Amino acid sequence: MTTANAMIPPPPAWYREPLSIGTLRLASRFNLAPLAGYTNLPYRLSVREVGGVGLCTTDLVNARAILLGIKKTMELLATAPGDRPLAVQIFGANPDEMAGAARWLVERKLAESIDINMGCPVRKVVKTGGGSSLLCDTTGGTINLVRKVVEAVPVPVTVKMRLGWDDENLSAPFFAREFEKAGVAAVTVHGRTREQGFGGGVNHDGIRRVVEAVESIPVYGNGDVRGIADAARMIEETGCHGIAIGRGALANPWVFRQLASWVATGDPGPRGTYHERLGFMRLHLRRLVEWKGDEKYGCIQFRKVATWYTRALRLPKRVQQALVVLVNLRQFDDLIAPFADAGPPQEWSEWDTHSAPVAVPAGPISHW
Ligand SMILES: Cc1cc2nc3c(=O)[nH]c(=O)nc-3n(C[C@H](O)[C@H](O)[C@H](O)COP(=O)(O)O)c2cc1C
Repeated sequence: MTTANAMIPPPPAWYREPLSIGTLRLASRFNLAPLAGYTNLPYRLSVREVGGVGLCTTDLVNARAILLGIKKTMELLATAPGDRPLAVQIFGANPDEMAGAARWLVERKLAESIDINMGCPVRKVVKTGGGSSLLCDTTGGTINLVRKVVEAVPVPVTVKMRLGWDDENLSAPFFAREFEKAGVAAVTVHGRTREQGFGGGVNHDGIRRVVEAVESIPVYGNGDVRGIADAARMIEETGCHGIAIGRGALANPWVFRQLASWVATGDPGPRGTYHERLGFMRLHLRRLVEWKGDEKYGCIQFRKVATWYTRALRLPKRVQQALVVLVNLRQFDDLIAPFADAGPPQEWSEWDTHSAPVAVPAGPISHW
């Protein structure tokens, strides 16, 4: 037991048992939460290789755009044999379009599970009646939409939602139970309201009310879990059956492996050695290039994540400045090779999960 984390007692023994979402049996209770613009195929493949992840979900995808075959949308649906099990998250407000998109995805074997977005706060999504605005219709429209999607596909359908629109309208417990009756196989609850955006604290009490409202489906707690201590608190205070982690996984792709190890043995183990982190960074870049099908475009995609790596690895500022204007893989290798040869700087520690000094996005880019 080498870390401060090792002092945190693991959750109850039932956390060691695999979790099933309908017919889908998951090896771990820790899922990757969707982060539009980040949790694409290259990142998912890389994080899965580290280990410990249950289910991964795509970025939110517009149901109508799926049915229209929009090229950019098809890119978001890119997957691979190693990218399993996978949920595709769809958003929209029209029940027929949502059901049609779900059917289209399942017929093409692009998803083992369909997730319905009811959390997105951005105006572009909300003004169409989709995302978190679905949490406002408690009179039947939202439940009808969910039922249509469930009836359209033979795979598990899940919902990712917020606690409600604002503090006066905490509709998540009501909806979770209604969705369960409509055949939904699990819900994930981000413990904030739409009004909160990504600010303020996560309301564990609110998540607990959802756990208490459902009869037997799993409830995943979500929000601000960055390491073992946060996960322990989420489980203890909400009784959730599993946890979805978004930004914490960007800052530390080892978080799932650590959580799985903590649940199994009480010891989370390291958050990746220095060389493993360098390897992860290179693989992520290489996969972005493959995904985009173009070296320069892949490098441009990498620029927005380069700073996490340079911070986590404590690489000098000049390396960070070079990576944010990166144009090819050769340039990357020339920049990084001396650090791989030299090994970690003296103050660098692979054990400290609490202080991963990595800036992550506060929320989706569009304002709301
Ligand atoms: C940049 C960014 C993009 C996001 N995109 C999505 C999305 O496409 N679908 C979704 O359901 N939630 C999305 N979310 C919300 C996250 O899945 C998650 O609920 C939220 O970030 C809280 O969890 P975390 O603290 O573990 O990140 C996004 C969040 C961020 C920061």
